[in-house]
Amino acid sequence: MVKPDLETRFGAAPDGPMDMATMWRRLASRGSVRSFSEKPVDPAMIETLAALALCSPTKSDLQQRDIIIIRDPDQRTAIHACLGDQTWVAKAPELLVFCGNNRRQRRIHELRGRNFANDHLDALFNPAVDAGIALSAFVLAAEEAGLGCCPVSAIRNKPEDVSRILALPDHVFPVAGLAVGWPEEPASVSFRLPLSQTVHIDRFSDDGFDEALADYDTRREAAQPYAKQRFSDEYGEDTSYPWSEDKARQYSKPERSTFGAFIRAIGFKFD
Ligand SMILES: Cc1cc2nc3c(=O)[nH]c(=O)nc-3n(C[C@H](O)[C@H](O)[C@H](O)COP(=O)(O)O)c2cc1C
Repeated sequence: MVKPDLETRFGAAPDGPMDMATMWRRLASRGSVRSFSEKPVDPAMIETLAALALCSPTKSDLQQRDIIIIRDPDQRTAIHACLGDQTWVAKAPELLVFCGNNRRQRRIHELRGRNFANDHLDALFNPAVDAGIALSAFVLAAEEAGLGCCPVSAIRNKPEDVSRILALPDHVFPVAGLAVGWPEEPASVSFRLPLSQTVHIDRFSDDGFDEALADYDTRREAAQPYAKQRFSDEYGEDTSYPWSEDKARQYSKPERSTFGAFIRAIGFKFD
């Protein structure tokens, strides 16, 4: 029962389910869900999950992240129009937007009459990391409850439009959307790179990367072949289409290349 902990932390707890069980097995077999049943999700459940997400660590206790739960159908429609080809999001019962928020900190400096001496990259970086941590915590808590989720970076495709729709002021920015609902079918487990390349002991090393990548590509392609090859009009259809080819094709084209200009325009500095 987590209600007393939430009440202590927030002063009040939402009216949602509060039971939790061990999560390691679920985490090991988790996967993103992009296809949902029509069964609605209890709004109190979403608010509880948002509260749980905000129990996750936050840099220096600064709490520079916010969650926007989009309930109004017109708001949903307006946001969907910003997501390009991510049309599956419109069928998700719930949509949230995780934001970095450095505005509160700046206001605190005004209220306390103290100079804000950190108007540099940290002012952007810490809220972005904090928002990502909260997103992850939300996903894990939601999956523990049997819900399915998928983050949506396409929320940054048109950041000016999203900011206008969500009334985001300067120094508040979208990090990722999150589609949530009851899964239509169990999530598939997406293979990850070998731990020899992603978990390091004492010091970083990418020795053996090329061989490890080749093994991963082979293992993944045998078990989880891609249904579709990216940009095949330009790059053709390969008989073998491993993960590394998909990622190389993906990032051979610019994605969200105007986001930096948007971030500068809402007041952040990159020095
Ligand atoms: C920050 C972030 C943004 C993402 N944006 C999208 C997105 O816009 N569209 C999408 O279909 N999946 C998106 N995803 C989901 C990833 O594609 C997915 O996590 C990845 O393929 C690994 O699969 P898994 O979560 O099933 O293990 C995003 C994931 C993260 C963490």
